[in-house]
Amino acid sequence: TSESISDLLDRLCEIVPDYPQPGISFKDLTPVFADPVGLRRMVDELIAPFEGQFDIVAGLEARGFVLAAAAAYASGKGMLTIRKAGKLPREVYRDEYTLEYGTSCLEVHKDEIAPGTRVLILDDVLATGGTVGSAVRLLQQTGARIAGVGVVLELDGLGGRAKLPGQQVVSLQVVH
Ligand code: PRP
Repeated sequence: TSESISDLLDRLCEIVPDYPQPGISFKDLTPVFADPVGLRRMVDELIAPFEGQFDIVAGLEARGFVLAAAAAYASGKGMLTIRKAGKLPREVYRDEYTLEYGTSCLEVHKDEIAPGTRVLILDDVLATGGTVGSAVRLLQQTGARIAGVGVVLELDGLGGRAKLPGQQVVSLQVVH
């Protein structure tokens, strides 16, 4: 295909004005998930930079699950389910992080990842970096190694990348 990934995202993303709050222009990726070419291109482009460098793919609830499951399947790996607090039924590692208002918490099952495992973290959007930063700390608790971070959209000017020092961060499109 000759269409760049950035052009594909521009074509398929829906921009929703004033969502979830007035003044915010929301980039809705669900039409890209729903498109057969869109889904495949996104996943292929997220995996390619990390080929041979990861043993498992971690997805962040909820939209990261779509990408991570497809990426894990496509690369013949398993998927690690990183969930918000209280959703996982067995023993977990947890990491709390601060949001604009209040705190949130990510958890992962203790027995699903062995020390030294190389983990590729995928999510849909990198904004402030609070979520991915928390996932990195969470996985570091397990003794895993972070192979890298892949996101579809990186919102510029919110400092997300700066919260991930030393990590290889790949974004398919930077949104200004
Ligand atoms: C969104 C998005 C990322 C995160 C990015 O998830 O899917 O996970 O926010 O923002 P940050 O870089 O500022 O942390 P949301 O919290 O809306 O959860 P959801 O996917 O479960 O709807």
